[in-house]
Amino acid sequence: MSTGRRRRPAHRWVLAASLALCTTTFALPANSAEPAPAPPAADGLALTPPMGFNNWNSTHCAEDFNEKLVRDIADIFVSHGLKEAGYTYVNLDDCWALPDRAPNGDLVPDPVRFPHGIKAVADYVHAKGLKFGIYSSAGTKTCHPDGFPGALGHEQRDANLFASWGVDYLKYDNCNNQGVNAVERYTKMRDALKATGRPIVFSICEWGVNKPWEWGKGVGHLWRTTIDISDSWASMLSILKQNMVRADHAGPGHWNDPDMLEVGNGGMTDTEYRTHFSLWSMMAAPLLIGADLRKVTPETFEILGNKDVIAVDQDPLGVQGRPIRSAGGLHVFVKPLAGGDKAVALFNENDTPARIDTTAAEVGLPASAGYKLRDLWAHTDAHTTGAISAVVPAHGTTMYRIGADRHWFQYPPALDAAAEVELSYSGALPVVAPDTPVAYTTTLGNSGGAPVHSVRAKLIAPPTWSVRPTSDVETTALRENERFRTTWEVSAPPGTPPGRYPVSATFEYVNPQTGAPATLTNVAEAVVPEVPHTGTQYLSDVSWLRTTNGWGPVEVDHTNGARAPGDGGPLTLRGVYYAKGLGTHALSSVEYFTGGACSEVRALVGVDDGKTGSVTFEVWADGDRVYDSGTLTVADPARQLVADVTGAKAIRLVATDAGDGIQNDHADWADLTLTC
Ligand code: GLA
Repeated sequence: MSTGRRRRPAHRWVLAASLALCTTTFALPANSAEPAPAPPAADGLALTPPMGFNNWNSTHCAEDFNEKLVRDIADIFVSHGLKEAGYTYVNLDDCWALPDRAPNGDLVPDPVRFPHGIKAVADYVHAKGLKFGIYSSAGTKTCHPDGFPGALGHEQRDANLFASWGVDYLKYDNCNNQGVNAVERYTKMRDALKATGRPIVFSICEWGVNKPWEWGKGVGHLWRTTIDISDSWASMLSILKQNMVRADHAGPGHWNDPDMLEVGNGGMTDTEYRTHFSLWSMMAAPLLIGADLRKVTPETFEILGNKDVIAVDQDPLGVQGRPIRSAGGLHVFVKPLAGGDKAVALFNENDTPARIDTTAAEVGLPASAGYKLRDLWAHTDAHTTGAISAVVPAHGTTMYRIGADRHWFQYPPALDAAAEVELSYSGALPVVAPDTPVAYTTTLGNSGGAPVHSVRAKLIAPPTWSVRPTSDVETTALRENERFRTTWEVSAPPGTPPGRYPVSATFEYVNPQTGAPATLTNVAEAVVPEVPHTGTQYLSDVSWLRTTNGWGPVEVDHTNGARAPGDGGPLTLRGVYYAKGLGTHALSSVEYFTGGACSEVRALVGVDDGKTGSVTFEVWADGDRVYDSGTLTVADPARQLVADVTGAKAIRLVATDAGDGIQNDHADWADLTLTC
């Protein structure tokens, strides 16, 4: 039995697409973009996006994909309130069958994984009041290299078998399709499922290659719009950006599917998973849990079980939300809801917290003296007279439900709190270097129609840090649409180890409705960097602040191998071996802290020997590009790079694709040094 995990090389171009899309700027009026609600699907299935579980993202074909997993997940759905929250389908993915069909042509369940057969697990799932799903491919074999049988040419036999087992959901993949037209292949299985007489949700999984959004309605109930998701921020972001432009095609019974959830699998932070879950819900995506719920944290259950957010996904109007504004990595998504409310997601894809503002009018609400604003992650209600504003953490999403409400004044004013450090350039990380005072600003904003009183600001840093206000920390009243700012001087003690540290703004005030004291806190992060020493040093010996890379990770003292950490070879440029340097792959950026104390970067740069790509090498000192190599290929001799970085707080080493895509763009920075 195979326990191997499959790798999909196509993932690489997804990252490139994501990087290319990062700078997209556009604006759409919310109202004009709203499709009319679609009539219910003819068969009444999937009137809201399907919710449930699928094992693929957590187990692939490892041994723990077996009947125990399925039973355990069904148990957890019930015991942890997920069934009650709406999760219904417990679905198997690839590798459940033996490679050969039975002599009569039937598929045969793997007897090691499913010793009691598939019907027994389906019965177990049904007995819990849940539904059961299975997987096949519209090809001669499924996608796994071990070659499990697909249903092409066996559609009716397989559909009948699935129906006899009690299958309620079929995910139908695209591998080994023998070049047969996709619409034909998927329509044939739709008809075979229909002929069984059993209601079965039909999930088209052809990765968006034949534009299923143009023909999938009426064939399947959902269709993948992209290649496979993986458990990384870059993958999630890239898929989001490909799926969010397909909003016109979704509606009850016919959904865009940006692939299953990675929430809880460990490759992203909880902030990033909240973003993933928020934006999938804003896009009315199927919510199929992809984590092994036997192994996840309480925070994962909290994210997956957020009923306020689930209600947005499952809203009966069935409209896919879309961005009405996206600029510089800050996005405002709006999803119209049944009854006239709007769901609004303020999404910050950047590495630094940022304020994102919109208004009731901009999100398409009618004029009103006030609106009820519910924060769907804090689960608090407030009122606003129109402004919607939040300082959103790096990679975070603030999500609201807002609607005109005649009784808006019953709720307290909507407040937003922030702690922001002065940045050395736009987009810089919130750096606090040891023994170097930095300026912070705390802000409390009031979007309500009533003042809050007796406001007091606090800035809370780790206990050994020094924090000193440099302006007033108190104000008697904060009125409508006012912001109360306090400036602070903060420093971390000498020798503070590099890392990320919480720094939060807390405001005490008096709730105008109740007269009771209240507090509001916003937690931000400070990055304490490694400080380079005086003299000349190899940068590959210094810890970077952050990196991005086109394929695989940036490699230290090796070339980029394009996949896993440490898979690169020796750094060689034109036959010369270099023991020190960085191996990157366009599009790439490696950032170091220099704290204004360094003067020069030097390196020999070029495309790695044997590679066919073309790249440019750039050095950025804070927000300024101070070196540009122009286009280099393997035909060019290694280029001597000398860049003046005097005074910069941070430097970035950037490799671009020279404008022709990122294929084979292995960019080597040999003998890379920094002088401070
Ligand atoms: C394809 C699909 C995945 C998964 C695997 C199984 O890659 O897109 O979601 O089903 O096949 O092999």
